[in-house]
Formats: sequence, structure tokens, C-alpha cells
Amino acid sequence: MKRSPLAASILLALTASAASARAGAAPTALGFAEARAGQSLDGAWHVIVDPYDNGLLDYRNQPRPNGYFLDAPARDKTELVEYDFARAPTLKVPGDWNTQRPDLLYYEGTVWYERRFDAPARPGARQFVQFGAAAQRATVWLNGRRLGAHEGGFTPFAFEVTGQLRPRGNSLVVMVNNTRRPDALPAMNTDWWNYGGLTRGVRLIETPPVFVRNARIQCAKGDPRRITAVVEVDGAAPGTTVVVEIPELGARAALRTDAAGRAATSFGASPVLWSPEAPRLYEVAVSVGDDVVRDRVGFRTIETAGTQILLDGKPIFLRGISLHEEALGRGGRATSRADAEALLALAKQLGCNFVRLAHYPHGEEMTRAADRMGLLVWSEIPVYWTIAWNDPATLADARAQLGEEIARDANRASIILWSVGNETPVSDARTRFLRTLIADARAADPTRLLTAALEHHATGPAAERIDDPLGADLDVLGLNEYVGWYDGLPDKCDRLSWSAGYDKPIVVSEFGADAKAGLHGDALTRFSEEYQADLYLRQLAMLARVPAVRGMSPWILVDFRSPRRPLPGVQDGWNRKGLVANDGRKKKAFGVLRDAYRKMSAASR
Ligand code: GCU
Repeated sequence: MKRSPLAASILLALTASAASARAGAAPTALGFAEARAGQSLDGAWHVIVDPYDNGLLDYRNQPRPNGYFLDAPARDKTELVEYDFARAPTLKVPGDWNTQRPDLLYYEGTVWYERRFDAPARPGARQFVQFGAAAQRATVWLNGRRLGAHEGGFTPFAFEVTGQLRPRGNSLVVMVNNTRRPDALPAMNTDWWNYGGLTRGVRLIETPPVFVRNARIQCAKGDPRRITAVVEVDGAAPGTTVVVEIPELGARAALRTDAAGRAATSFGASPVLWSPEAPRLYEVAVSVGDDVVRDRVGFRTIETAGTQILLDGKPIFLRGISLHEEALGRGGRATSRADAEALLALAKQLGCNFVRLAHYPHGEEMTRAADRMGLLVWSEIPVYWTIAWNDPATLADARAQLGEEIARDANRASIILWSVGNETPVSDARTRFLRTLIADARAADPTRLLTAALEHHATGPAAERIDDPLGADLDVLGLNEYVGWYDGLPDKCDRLSWSAGYDKPIVVSEFGADAKAGLHGDALTRFSEEYQADLYLRQLAMLARVPAVRGMSPWILVDFRSPRRPLPGVQDGWNRKGLVANDGRKKKAFGVLRDAYRKMSAASR
């Protein structure tokens, strides 16, 4: 089948993105993992807390041949073995360790996870162990044999284990480490909690010998009447037929794989377009041989024109809010569909059509919930504040995490923005680093917009400007500004004008103020609900005077844990800029933003 120029360009893109992912040498995850046959390995795992990496290294700091990864307790009374997983305490997976045990709240280091599982023989099937995430890095052994390692706490990874399983009592051991490192992503300093652990689900996946590893089905850039399909097949000979079907659209396309197992096509179709008001999803089926995978996908286009953001060709204002991936009520990492829906329901109560999922890729439950609930998404990798810009390994890590984020979520219509950085200090090295990521993202996914949360600087006593050199490479200028909190008092908002060095849309990705729920005072009393509410009123009035501002995601939906916030009786280890306290209590500023969004929404009809 002759490939259309569009399909050929997409294939080229995919090859580039796979290469960049390989640059990070991460064991890439399988798409559609939850929908595939296999078994969940979630539940209680035995754990050993190991601050000295004693399970890996001897007293001379040399690798031990008989480390914890062997999972081999003493066989008789004479044998000296100083660990035994079967008698060790357990932690729940998925879940961070910090909020499961008080002694681990601040723990930074290694925790060994172990579980046993049976795997009845499946002749002819291929098997993979897939992790939704392991914070911040993991090394994995199966039955004492090292499978490999993964760096990065927020993206999925998998190892093929075909032929390595036994019918009963397989030992899966994972060394998880969350120690902050200057060359990691994020690095040493973050304004969020350094949660560690197997924070997302673990699954044993079974596939046929030839299977659909991933598939991207989305509207062609700028053309809501053309759908592109890019399929990655594993184990296929060149020329293998792949079928893509969207039954409700009467669409069926047969395509053939190339030498790398890739196939691409595009075809005309007239889907009801996905939007926050009408988040229409279609069932899509992709098959090769007897392997069929299904997904629910929305179709829409997203572009910019001058300072406008266009959803399906129409200007849109992003009425958003930022949020961390922390569960309402219990705190700790959000892990479930219910956790995700509870947080996004609060955003909907605010009148949002947009959320910024800060500062790292949230779980797949969150992005799938945004698809269902009708919320546009800003997704980002943790290139946060100060990163080792000159370290090739750090760049490879960032490229790998970006590739894994895009590979996992390319079918999520809700995601319109990939962000490559947050408040990163301008320097040549930093801009080169981020430009590499921008090029990777454009190659991997030409349909979405690129952004980053930039900083600003004063050009006069009442004038602020965004002219970060990176702005030239972005589609949308993210802007973090704290006028009225870190930068003067709230009345400073009344006097400020803003300009930018680019004719591009601005999304104010952060503004806000701390307020302890229930703490009341006048509008100049720091940490009072009244101060926060007054700041929101003045910020909203200031930003309404800036025509290039086409969206905002104030900081932040819910209070969140941070080791940088010790103020006794007010913060106590929490950043209080939430519009909602972690226990669900809404602060005055919640009503201020909700009223503003209601007016904006009414005016846009
Ligand atoms: C920064 C940063 C956030 C942080 C916030 C704050 O802009 O991006 O991660 O929590 O400001 O200081 O509260």
C-alpha cells in the first residue's frame, strides 16, 4: 500500500522519538497494559528498609553476590542469612511508603519490595512485567536474575520475562530508591514531597508472539476530518497486515508494517469532536493477527494563531487550576481512579475546562479521567528549577522520561500541552537542554502544543516582561508570577502592566498565596483566607488587562505536603496555596475563582 506523504512523515517522526527514548535506554512500556490479559501484582508486598544499600553492597561497598535480590532465606539452622522477605513487614502497592508508615514519612533511600506469584504456563504467549511507576528509580530481579533498571519516578516501564517464569512461586524483587541526586530529574530541591515507592500498579502482561506494542490514533494536525494512525507492532515481519477500526465512524484501514514493525496511515472521517463541554470518546480497535487492543479515544485539533489558542479552530480561554498528584483526605500519592476523579471533580466545581498536572507526569488514571470528564490538560516532566544542564546522562534521562510520557498518553485527547520545564534559570546550557527536549517532543508528537513555565522580569517600577529566549521555540508561553505574595503586596497587581517578546498566547501557569483554612484576618494578614481571596481578586483584574493571556492555572487546587514549609501552626510541612485544604474544606478564594470562571464561561457562549 503506497504510503501518503503524511503517513511517511509520521513514521519518520516515530523513528526519531523511539531513538530518543533509546537514548535513555529505558525498558519501554507496552501500550494498553490495563486492557491486556495477565494478572495484577498489586497488593501487599514484603519490604526491607535499607538505608545503606546493604542488600546490594558488602561492607567494602562492593556488589554482593548473595544480595537480597536472591530472595533466598536460610535453608537450615547452620546457614547465616540476615534477611527473610517472608517474615518481613508489608506495604501496599500501589502506594508511596511515606504515608503508609510514620517512620518512613521523611525517608529517603532504598526500600526492597518482594512478592511471590504463580504463573501458569502459557505456551506460545509472551510475558512482560510492567510497572506504572517506581519513585524515583528501580532495579528489578525475577527469580534472582536481574532484569534491568529504570530512572524516573513518574513513567511506566516493562521487562520481557518470556521463558523465565515458573508455574509456582516466582520471586519478583524490586530495589526502589528515592534519594535526591544533583544529576537526577528532579534534582535536589523541589517544593513537593519526595514520595518513594511502587507508587503505581504492577502487572504481569501476556501477549501473542506478534502484538500491538502501541498505537496512536488522533486527528491530523489542523484537520478534524482526517485521522492518522501510527502503530508499533512487536515481533512482526515486514509487510505484516495491521487493521485499525473505529466502528462508530464506519472506519477500517488495513496497513502494513515496515522493517521496524511500524505502520502508519491516515483516512478521512467525521467524528463528533471532543471538547470539555462534550468529551466524546470513540472505541478504537487495532489488530495484528489474533492480537486485538482497544482504547477509547477523543478526536480534536489544537493550534495557535497569534496570541489565540484554537480548539477545533475556535478561540478558547483555558480556565484552569494546577494540581499535584496527592490524594484528597489521606494525602500521599493518588493511586486510583477514585483519587483522580475526586480531584478533577473539584476542578469541575471551580468551573475549569483545563488543569495543569504539575510537576511530573501524573498517573494514567488522571489523564484518562480528564478525557472522560472533559478537562484539557497541561502535562509536564520534572525539569524543575535547577538541573544538571551540562550532564549528558541527565539529558538522556529527560529525553527518556519525555518519550515515555508521550508514548503512554498520545491517545489522550485531553492533553493539549507538553511542558518541558518549570522556572528554570536562563543560561545557554539550559536553553540548549530544553531545545533538545522541544525537538524530541515535536518529532514524537507533531499534533500538540509545546510550552514551559517561564519567569519574568521588571522593565520598570510597574512593568513586567516575558522575554525568555526559550519563548522563540514554544507555541505557548507559560508564566509563573507571584505578584502580591513573593513580589510585593496584593495591591501591586493594580499597578502592573505586562508585555512579552513574542506574539504568542500566554498561559499564567502559576499565581497564588498561602492561606490556612479557617485562619481569618484582614486582607493584609498573611496566611489568612482573606489575604488569599483579595490576592485572587486583584490578580484576576490584572490579568484581564493583558489580551495575550489566553489561560491560567493558578497555584493550586489543594494544599500539598512540602518539606520547605515548616511554619508552625500554619504550614507544618504543607504548602497552603490550595484553594481547598487537604481535608476538603474550601477557602474563600475558591469562591472568588469559581465566580470569575462562571462569568468567563457565560461571556464565551
Ligand atoms: C513555584 C513552583 C511551585 C511552588 C510554588 C510555591 O512557582 O513552581 O512548585 O510550589 O512556586 O512557591 O508555592
